[in-house]
Amino acid sequence: MPDQPVRHLIHWNDFSDEEIKRILLLSKKIKQYPLDYQDHLRNQSLVMLFQKTSTRTRVSFEVAISELGGHGIFLDWNSTNFDLTEIGYEAAYLSSNCQVLMARMVKHEELLELAEHSSVPVINGCCNRYHPCQAMADMLTIFEHVGKTEGVKLTYIGVHNNVVNSLMALSAALGVHLTLVCPLSPEGVVETNAKEKLKQRGLLFETLDLVEAVKESDFIYTDTWVDMELFNDPKAKELKRERIELMMPYQLNEKLKEHTGAKIMHDMPIHPGYEISKGLVFHPDSIIFDQAENRLYTQKAILLFLLNKG
Ligand code: CP
Repeated sequence: MPDQPVRHLIHWNDFSDEEIKRILLLSKKIKQYPLDYQDHLRNQSLVMLFQKTSTRTRVSFEVAISELGGHGIFLDWNSTNFDLTEIGYEAAYLSSNCQVLMARMVKHEELLELAEHSSVPVINGCCNRYHPCQAMADMLTIFEHVGKTEGVKLTYIGVHNNVVNSLMALSAALGVHLTLVCPLSPEGVVETNAKEKLKQRGLLFETLDLVEAVKESDFIYTDTWVDMELFNDPKAKELKRERIELMMPYQLNEKLKEHTGAKIMHDMPIHPGYEISKGLVFHPDSIIFDQAENRLYTQKAILLFLLNKG
């Protein structure tokens, strides 16, 4: 076992404001000077374990480790032996053969179990409570577009979900004014520590008045109304119908955009015609694909930070 406690990235609440700023600045530097980092993780292996589907998280982590000189191993949960045994046993083994683990787990509790038994850093690649890697890429995108995060106005419109929890934690650390327009906060989802911190710092505003929420905003952000694993699940048909009925008035669309010059954000995958109209995806103010691209640079920074190579 290592002498120092292993540092995981489960959520940003475990990181100081200074550390969060360091990771953001490192991401920017890596994007600017990628070749300076090409050997930093030479001969290091990253295991990427997915209980759920992914496009961006899988690709960006695999490219990140490869461009840092290391090697990525993709594990689809269903083709492993995790279901035959206990998570802790498999985690203890995996961490003996790699230097860092990234996991996309459905349940936060299972991610914690994985981390508890891992002797190497575990990175949360999105669970039901948090999506820390996405939120860091979002902050890099904001930083690039306005040259700062302090005082920037970000409005999130949608269901309160894992992304919002991570955005709240990073907004508190980076001085972003976050307005939440969340007509629905499913039970047990809201991260109260991050919310309290944001509130105490005078950075949180909540409203259901869309025009008020967007008119002074620099960035407006939305996300899926239904969890990704349920979107095409016939068993979730009724839940999906209820969500659409409740959320349709809160769609990001051309009519709402008339009230604001804000940049448009979405963490993808996009469901056009639901949380966002098709016309806004490639709108001149859309920075959606910058967010997705920036996943690569922030994954690199997170890997380097956790492995003390930054
Ligand atoms: N935003 C995001 O995490 O994308 P994927 O689900 O495709 O990884």
